Amino acid sequence: MSSIIDTVIAHHQEHYPQSTDCALFASPGRINIIGEHIDYNGGTVLPAAIDKHIYICVSRNDDGIIRFISANHTETGEVAINNLYSPQTMTHAAHTWWVYPYGACVLSNIEFDYGLDFSFYSTLPVGAGISSSASITVGTLYALYSLYNKKIKNIDLALQAQKVEWDFAGVNCGIMDQMAIINGKKDNAIMLNTRSMDYSFIPVDTSAVRFVLVNSGVKHSLRESGYNDRRQECERALLMLKKAGFAINELCDCSVDDLIQIQTILPQTEYKRTCHVITENHRVSQFAQEIQYYNLSKAGELLYKSHESLSVYYEVSIPLIDEMVEWASSIDGVYGSRLMGGGFGGCTISMVALYAVEHFTGAIAQKFKKKENRTPEIYECSIGDGTRRIE
Ligand code: GLA
Repeated sequence: MSSIIDTVIAHHQEHYPQSTDCALFASPGRINIIGEHIDYNGGTVLPAAIDKHIYICVSRNDDGIIRFISANHTETGEVAINNLYSPQTMTHAAHTWWVYPYGACVLSNIEFDYGLDFSFYSTLPVGAGISSSASITVGTLYALYSLYNKKIKNIDLALQAQKVEWDFAGVNCGIMDQMAIINGKKDNAIMLNTRSMDYSFIPVDTSAVRFVLVNSGVKHSLRESGYNDRRQECERALLMLKKAGFAINELCDCSVDDLIQIQTILPQTEYKRTCHVITENHRVSQFAQEIQYYNLSKAGELLYKSHESLSVYYEVSIPLIDEMVEWASSIDGVYGSRLMGGGFGGCTISMVALYAVEHFTGAIAQKFKKKENRTPEIYECSIGDGTRRIE
């Protein structure tokens, strides 16, 4: 840890040589073990924070300007504290990486009485579906509240970060990523009911399994992908079901048994989306049970089923990711594998027996290279703590 801290602080001081005292925060990325595209349909999801982070260093300045620089981007951003809400800045920021910390500053409702120099340093890959945007947004909000000594509940901070995505980045995302990132706990997944926002921790036995991500290298952007379309399709399906007499508030209020009737009501596209949502929600509770009783093979099967449903019914996969899941299923020691996150690119997540991790990474890299003529990035994830102050 200490060497990364030194690197991050050195990076900050190099860009802000006048800064004397800086506060340092770490905000993790997240994996999602199962429960995809149901966090905006009132479903229960099973994400976890991981040991890859965006580090946020911040120091005060006397010039009344908030600055954003990053070791991972050449473009820099700055905005005067007395001009924070200008429509021009919002429009300009919308297409830059610093839209997230900027949106966090605006929505935090903090009355800035001095400027701030922010620097970011990421060990989280961007566009890989492991929530770098939620990580930087949650992390910036956390840093602001900490600097200003303001108390905020984790849930309220998560909701503010979600609003940054909605209002500033134009992505109508659910609440899973933000809740996983702020509430993360080492070696535990978070079983989150996205309707009540209640959650409990599910221990993950890291001496038995590892979650390994393989990056397709196809960058996914939720803004440009069909993410918002999927959300609208679900909203349409919900309205149609309500009109047809279903007493429900969210699609996840329906049970798997309702699907026979639902098929007679909804047009094909809306039916397919609903079918994924309802069965995925069911799979999450099945998965939690299987994992609790150490039925790893049965739990893994549910991951394959989740993938099939995401690919065939929700239509958010791409041919390369389908192939990657297929390859994973042919490798010894793999319990299950599926597309992770919003889709249209990004990573697969595979549940691999600890003894087989090395074999898996070698074998999948080989298959990938043969097909794509490039070596994929592979991340062996440890499950870590949520956003926190380090120094
Ligand atoms: C993205 C969104 C989440 C969630 C997933 C799909 O990560 O930010 O809210 O909807 O996609 O499960």
